[in-house]
Amino acid sequence: MIKKGKFITFEGIDGAGKSSHIEEVISFLESKKIGVKRTREPGGTRLGEKLRDLLLHDEMDPETETLLMFAARCQHIAEVIRPALNDGMFVVSDRFTDATYAYQYGGKNVAYSKIEILEQWVHPDLKADLTLLFDLPVEISIERLSKNKILDKFEKESEPFFNRLRNVYLDIARQNPNRYKIINANQAIESVSRDVIEAVKNIL
Ligand SMILES: Nc1ncnc2c1ncn2[C@@H]1O[C@H](COP(=O)(O)OP(=O)(O)O)[C@@H](O)[C@H]1O
Ligand SMILES: [Mg+2]
Repeated sequence: MIKKGKFITFEGIDGAGKSSHIEEVISFLESKKIGVKRTREPGGTRLGEKLRDLLLHDEMDPETETLLMFAARCQHIAEVIRPALNDGMFVVSDRFTDATYAYQYGGKNVAYSKIEILEQWVHPDLKADLTLLFDLPVEISIERLSKNKILDKFEKESEPFFNRLRNVYLDIARQNPNRYKIINANQAIESVSRDVIEAVKNIL
């Protein structure tokens, strides 16, 4: 694959601030005359959004959940991510494969090695150029989420569940220091924005 664009992923536990900051990254890149594709997981395609609805609302076996995540991801890569990167666009995705390690391995005990096999199958040669990890204490993310009226299946999980996710994310970040930027999400929105844009500037 000849990949000309760059791939930026947003990661972190529910309520960390990913969705709040994605739009300003898009605007910043557009202000630099860079073509940008904004997308999200699970989802990003017509099929993927249908799978998202099942994944976020239906109870299922954690391995079924893992397989559906990767099925949606496979379509997402084929239909959206690769074509955009090949066209020289930047792709900004609200979550990607690290979230499967965090949620299905960290949160739900699916074997790490099984997720590795799926990653190797679905995207052996695709990695994010930059992953922004929105990190904050779990109590604070739960407090932020409690202000939302309708929570999905994952957002309703317990504090220990979110702590396991947070730790898996921090481990992946430590193992991938070149790709990862840990954002302190426990700050005022403006300070988080400043750190996010700073990190994006560094890969231009
Ligand atoms: N830095 C911040 N300080 C206070 N509240 C925040 C901050 N960032 C986001 N929020 C609020 O927290 C909630 C969750 O943010 P959101 O961006 O949806 O998180 P995520 O997409 O990571 O789940 C939203 O109600 C949002 O307005
Ligand atoms: Mg979000």
